[in-house]
Amino acid sequence: MKVAIIGCGFAGMMHAKGYSQLEGVKIAGCCDIVPEKARELASRFGAEAFNDLEEMLEVIRPDIVSVCTLEKDHAFAAMAALKSGAHVLCEKMLASSLDEAKAMVQTAKEKGKLLATQFNYRHIPSIRWLKSLLSDGVLGEPLLVTLQTHSYCHHHSVDLLRFLFGEIVSVQATMRGERSEVPYKGWEGISDDLLYIPPKAFGSILHFESGLIAVVAGSFLHQLDDLMLELNLVTAKGRLSLRRMRQGNICGDLDTNLDLSGAPPFPEPVPFLDTFPLSVQNFVKAVMGEPAIFATGDDGLKAMEIEKALLTAVRTGQIISLATKPPS
Ligand SMILES: NC(=O)c1ccc[n+]([C@@H]2O[C@H](COP(=O)([O-])OP(=O)(O)OC[C@H]3O[C@@H](n4cnc5c(N)ncnc54)[C@H](O)[C@@H]3O)[C@@H](O)[C@H]2O)c1
Repeated sequence: MKVAIIGCGFAGMMHAKGYSQLEGVKIAGCCDIVPEKARELASRFGAEAFNDLEEMLEVIRPDIVSVCTLEKDHAFAAMAALKSGAHVLCEKMLASSLDEAKAMVQTAKEKGKLLATQFNYRHIPSIRWLKSLLSDGVLGEPLLVTLQTHSYCHHHSVDLLRFLFGEIVSVQATMRGERSEVPYKGWEGISDDLLYIPPKAFGSILHFESGLIAVVAGSFLHQLDDLMLELNLVTAKGRLSLRRMRQGNICGDLDTNLDLSGAPPFPEPVPFLDTFPLSVQNFVKAVMGEPAIFATGDDGLKAMEIEKALLTAVRTGQIISLATKPPS
């Protein structure tokens, strides 16, 4: 199976490491508009370097393309790759506007190819552990979840809430500060309608189809090596917390008053970067038709619709309803 990577920065390297661990998968092409970056990644993984995406697609004819450019450059790359006949794993946020994201999802459907959103937090071992306990009914009915997030993890937490607890029907939100304060290099071209990375203080209430209530609070003033996420869940049976999920130990520390003696053991600590290969490798499984966990293009689009609803709620002070049917 031939893989090509567009965007040879941090995320490009993480994807390449994930593919390179798989038998039968060859990283054949690496493309970046900065020639040294393409050459560096390509030479590290025995691939050919390109500076033009169309040329790489033509020469390599990849089965899979990882889109690892900044957000404003996701849509053109993903759609060119899908049209060339490749399956696409696109970094989050799926696109820089809802219209772009819809066009990407539509193109994948028309071409019959997989489009995935790189929501690698679905592969945090303690999140997978929590999901299996929820599915097995061990924890009882979830009633209330509170999530504290570093702003850079906020959009992942929106996806995680859907992954763990199902569809969100409405949101309320308030915040202090402006997008311009957030030191994120990728803002250029991202629609003003989307929250994406909250400023210094953000709070929201999300209402779920199941009746569950989530309270999500974010700030970029957290330190990533101290707190990326913290999740506190109240169920009909008791309380469970994943405390201080952080760069060095993304599983966090378990704190619960529930009797989990019959449940699978809580996972060992792993660094945050370990979530990338798990996510990339699940996508390869999905392409091979094997059972796999990954966020689809529709999941990426849904997360963006929630980002829009949250910012609309901040701006209007109203409760904003969301369509509960999956986007087409
Ligand atoms: N899932 C995660 O946890 C996670 C973490 C970090 C970044 N990301 C995402 O990964 C993406 C990339 O972020 P990054 O930190 O790797 O950025 P980066 O700046 O390190 O890398 C982006 C690369 O894309 C290249 N590029 C720009 N336009 C191009 C084009 N038209 N053709 C080819 N190459 C082009 C740039 O030269 C650069 O090398 C973003 O969408 C970001 O949100 C995800």
